Amino acid sequence: MKLKGKTALVTGAAKRVGREIALGLARRGANIVVHYNSSAADARRTVAEIKALGVDAIAVGANQAKMTEVRAAVSKAVKHFGEIHVLVASAAVYKKTPFDTLTERDWDFHIDANLKGPFLFGLEVGRHMQARKIDGKIINFADWSAIRPYADYLPYCVSKAGVICLTKSLAKALGPRVQVNAIAPGPILLPPDFTEEETQAVIDATVVKRLGSPKDIVNSVLFLIEGSDFITGHTLVVDGGRLIAGA
Ligand SMILES: NC(=O)c1ccc[n+]([C@@H]2O[C@H](COP(=O)([O-])OP(=O)(O)OC[C@H]3O[C@@H](n4cnc5c(N)ncnc54)[C@H](OP(=O)(O)O)[C@@H]3O)[C@@H](O)[C@H]2O)c1
Repeated sequence: MKLKGKTALVTGAAKRVGREIALGLARRGANIVVHYNSSAADARRTVAEIKALGVDAIAVGANQAKMTEVRAAVSKAVKHFGEIHVLVASAAVYKKTPFDTLTERDWDFHIDANLKGPFLFGLEVGRHMQARKIDGKIINFADWSAIRPYADYLPYCVSKAGVICLTKSLAKALGPRVQVNAIAPGPILLPPDFTEEETQAVIDATVVKRLGSPKDIVNSVLFLIEGSDFITGHTLVVDGGRLIAGA
């Protein structure tokens, strides 16, 4: 699929990796729906940057764990652009939850945002694509730790493992017109509160001995959208060898 003239909805696009994806798709000529939850001002800035590239963009707010909010956001996008051809579900939460102090609230927090969120967006946008007979693409976001979970992040890793099965299930449900894939990033942009030692430990735990960059993710998203229409239900690990590292 070529992106020029198409419309892409990118969740969590106000900041960080989601923002870079939105800008990357806009540079390929797509109009962009910039989804945000709490970062309205950042979302407006992203919209302005996208419009400066010569394509159209709007911001839509929604807590993606709430069906009514997701439905309203998708309706607003469809009202403005008519059709949505691409969904990139990047929005997520990530919090350390050591087993000793793990609570039901920690579980719900991660499963609601990271699994129910992409499910609700996939459901709403997928049904829109089916109803309009759109040849579309959906890209979800997992994590390498969905395949080999690390310590102290149990609900996060389980939520991302769910995204891998959600991706395969949506690929079956929405075929043959819509291809649904996931990206499982490794260390790209670390949380802002990571210390130098924590950052170095993450670098040491990769095969390539460096962090990735948002460009690695943007290029992977572009490949899954524009590079092939024959890949579906797949999870592409983009992690500098983090998954296979170690003796
Ligand atoms: N960064 C990395 O190195 C890395 C590594 C592995 C996997 N990943 C995955 O790659 C994706 C992008 O990473 P990132 O670091 O850019 O993500 P992030 O900064 O942790 O989160 C992106 C956005 O998700 C939105 N969000 C959180 N909860 C939400 C909810 N309930 N409803 C709607 N939006 C919500 C937030 O929007 P607002 O700010 O508007 O509230 C946030 O800005 C994520 O799925 C992440 O898990 C990233």
